[in-house]
Amino acid sequence: MKVGILGAGQLAQLLAHSAYSLGLETVCFTNNPDVPAARFSPLYIGNIHDSKDLIGFAEQCDVITFENENIAPEIIEFLSQYKPVLPDQKAIKVAQDRFIEKTFLQTLNIPTPCFAAIDSLTDLNTAISNIGLPALLKTRRFGYDGKGQVLLHDTHLAANAWDAIDRVPAILEKWVTFEHEVSLIAARNQTGATIFYPLIKNTHKQGILRFSESPFTNPDLQKLAEYHMQLVFDALDYVGVMAFEFFVKESQLIGNELAPRVHNSGHLTIEGFNASQFENHLRSILDCPLIKPILRASTKMTNIIGILPELTIQDCQNIHFYNYGKTPKPGRKLGHIIKYL
Ligand SMILES: Nc1ncnc2c1ncn2[C@@H]1O[C@H](COP(=O)(O)OP(=O)(O)O)[C@@H](O)[C@H]1O
Ligand SMILES: [Mg+2]
Repeated sequence: MKVGILGAGQLAQLLAHSAYSLGLETVCFTNNPDVPAARFSPLYIGNIHDSKDLIGFAEQCDVITFENENIAPEIIEFLSQYKPVLPDQKAIKVAQDRFIEKTFLQTLNIPTPCFAAIDSLTDLNTAISNIGLPALLKTRRFGYDGKGQVLLHDTHLAANAWDAIDRVPAILEKWVTFEHEVSLIAARNQTGATIFYPLIKNTHKQGILRFSESPFTNPDLQKLAEYHMQLVFDALDYVGVMAFEFFVKESQLIGNELAPRVHNSGHLTIEGFNASQFENHLRSILDCPLIKPILRASTKMTNIIGILPELTIQDCQNIHFYNYGKTPKPGRKLGHIIKYL
């Protein structure tokens, strides 16, 4: 079986690595040959907006998945005529737009921070008086690692914030004074079977994930998170791994974000569990039985951001060091380190 992956960054790299250990082949669609996934997978070099390239790629694959939800739904729809694409476009449409995503969570009665759609400075001023400050102005689309977000403390700075995000469609979201951030990684296969990992505790700085620790043991929150995730899975008839990011406040979960793909906070599932998020994602999309996660070790992941440490194999006694092979740049995720706790 050959799994096609749209994208060739570190998530595709780790998916390809896992696929290799399951006896699968992969091919990653990219327009650039100098990419992290090249280390473990053949590439299909093409232009995602060229239908001939998409068809040529689809012809090589048995099933297609992606590492990033910011793909135009029309591209997923087009590829689906040739080979199954999983997760499908329903999940992409919800997760690639923060307003649609939060509205979707509301319809499922999953708590979210207060939010409003912003299409003009007038909308922003109205939302500030309704929601209050501090609040975050977030672009509806294409944000990641805190990009496309402005924290607003002062009503007088509304126009500056609106300019700072280039006046693109956005949401204003109430700032949550949370106690913790956690993520739930889960998978659902085509027969509707599900598995859930224990919650992972995440620490962000300037909107970028710095540390993840597993397990975050709290049976009540675990149950609640799984309940919320099941609602999302059922509503989307979802197939694949999904990550659900939550804020924890006063023993409640507030839904922040859905990622319809493998997730940075789940990298530690490789060392921490009998089966990783990557393996369970591949199993889901190939409609295999999933592997119920059993904790093997408590782990802490540290993202390497901006500058690569000079680590040799001698330094890797109780740690694993993943170097994605990217050119260092401030704020860029270059690798991660897993430490056993
Ligand atoms: N409403 C909020 N209140 C407090 N912190 C927030 C809020 N929204 C986002 N953040 C912080 O910024 C981080 C990144 O925001 P997020 O909405 O997850 O966007 P992305 O991960 O796509 O960049 C969050 O993990 C959290 O630390
Ligand atoms: Mg996030």
